[in-house]
Amino acid sequence: MASLRYRVQRAFQATFGYRPGLLVRAPGRVNLIGEHTDYNDGFVMPMAINRGAWIALQPRKDRQVVLRSIDFPSQIRFRLDDIGTPDRGWGEYVRGVAWALQQAGYDLHGWEGIISGDVPRAAGLSSSAALELAVARVFAAASQIKWQPVEMARLCQRAENEWVGVNCGIMDQLISACGERDRALQIDCRSLHIESIPLPPHTQIVVLYSAARRNLAASAYNQRLQTCEAAVQRLQTRWPHVQALRDVSSEMLAAASDLLTPLQMRRARHVVSENQRVLEAAAAMRAADAETLGALMLASHESLRRDYEVSSRQLDLLVTLAMQTPGVFGARLTGAGFGGCAIALVQANAAVTAGQTIIQTYRAETGLPGRAFVSRATAGAQLWRLRQT
Ligand code: GLA
Repeated sequence: MASLRYRVQRAFQATFGYRPGLLVRAPGRVNLIGEHTDYNDGFVMPMAINRGAWIALQPRKDRQVVLRSIDFPSQIRFRLDDIGTPDRGWGEYVRGVAWALQQAGYDLHGWEGIISGDVPRAAGLSSSAALELAVARVFAAASQIKWQPVEMARLCQRAENEWVGVNCGIMDQLISACGERDRALQIDCRSLHIESIPLPPHTQIVVLYSAARRNLAASAYNQRLQTCEAAVQRLQTRWPHVQALRDVSSEMLAAASDLLTPLQMRRARHVVSENQRVLEAAAAMRAADAETLGALMLASHESLRRDYEVSSRQLDLLVTLAMQTPGVFGARLTGAGFGGCAIALVQANAAVTAGQTIIQTYRAETGLPGRAFVSRATAGAQLWRLRQT
């Protein structure tokens, strides 16, 4: 199969009868550590993966947007003066981004394009953030808007929250916008300060897809968010400066058992300890210490399993199998959980074999068509100008 970069260009020419002038790519992501901390104003450590959404396009003189997908039979077409109201399907992300950019006061121009992507959908690898950021990059290029990745990530998050109606935090959009080659980003989700951190030398990230349905993921995610907010309200009665769980220390939590319900306590304990683990992970990565990073990843998984209760039988199995495999330093679920993917930090020369070994046993034990792939860290949303003659 030709790479997506060429497939979208060829499909563009076949559809519109001329060559596209611009090409855009935005990546999906894995999160190395720092899960369910972004909406608590905390720390995360994602990296952009080498799978993403690609769009070949040409600006139009009018204010129409026309986008055809290679992967889906449908085409979307709308006028920027009349975006309509939210509906369903992948087109919502496109219209949602147009809506959010216009709400922010940007004067958008129309364009026509072809899209394709290779981030598996509903796998917890942020295929929707990749789509949003690719579309934002396209609008910026077609409308001569200076590309400001953090600002665009915020607007894409707004599109997802307010147009599509999914209550996500900022992590997925930020990493798809700002990712860096061979590096993870430590992000402070309160200040949006970003620090780029190298992966430990001679290691690779293996993505382990469970192929299990993410049952009730959206409602369970919202419940977690609400429990965290309720815990903050109670903690504020004693510590008025607490704006989010980010402001809570483990000592404060230990002294708050009379304020919080047992459930709130467990959820808060995950968030407070996870923030600390991200900071320790960043120090370990700077010290090229794969062993400590691996141990922190495993502790993160345990906390997500026990206290935050967002793991699943399949994700636990992937992590257990990974930890039995030579060359693996650590493993954990990545993304929201409830299904989707786990990741493993593996010695580079053992990565491919480790992925195959883990998935073979996983398939045999579950009967599910799990998959493994090795991913290096890639750049965030990119634009290329193409020769049209
Ligand atoms: C999903 C959300 C993110 C983040 C993670 C959990 O991926 O989109 O904002 O909350 O779950 O860490």
